[in-house]
Amino acid sequence: MRRPRLAVFISGRGSNLAVLLELRSVLDVVLVVSSKPNAPGLIRARRAGVRTQVLEKKVDWPALDALLRSHQIELIVLAGFMKIVPEEFVLSWREKIINLHPSLLPKFPGLNAIEQAFAAQEEIGVTLHWVNEILDGGKIIAQRKVINKRSLSRYSLAQAEFLVHVSEHRLMREVFSKCKTISIWS
Ligand code: GRF
Repeated sequence: MRRPRLAVFISGRGSNLAVLLELRSVLDVVLVVSSKPNAPGLIRARRAGVRTQVLEKKVDWPALDALLRSHQIELIVLAGFMKIVPEEFVLSWREKIINLHPSLLPKFPGLNAIEQAFAAQEEIGVTLHWVNEILDGGKIIAQRKVINKRSLSRYSLAQAEFLVHVSEHRLMREVFSKCKTISIWS
């Protein structure tokens, strides 16, 4: 089976990007787009021989759209991408953008999701979902609980964050390893 051509959008470490790069037998990371010029994830991408694109502060979304199309991208994965994707871009890539979010959506959308859940003493977890026009509001693909309410008092915020990251990597591996053809996504 042909491997789907992915673009991965990052802003930081790129540890979730690393998971996708390891899955090269089932998917093809063709392009890594970063909102930050010094994102360590860019180094991972370059080491893996993947083309990178750093965005300007004021993103030229139509130019990015054209770049993605020129690379025949079939799926975009937002893996720690800290910019809001505008509605026009989302509509132009309808059902082709997946986001990783560190909470059990629909609870705690937006920024600082782990801190918010921790402060509210609510269950901690991770979600992979389709991106639509509503922030962190698209259809859920897969979700994993990381710490339940009763056990939460045993963990510090830093420990909870660590467990969330481990769980994100596991969820990414689990879901994307089934990525033989993009038709399974729809
Ligand atoms: C992840 O926790 C993701 O959920 C959040 O940013 C982090 C990205 O980590 N939005 P990395 O860059 O993949 O290491």
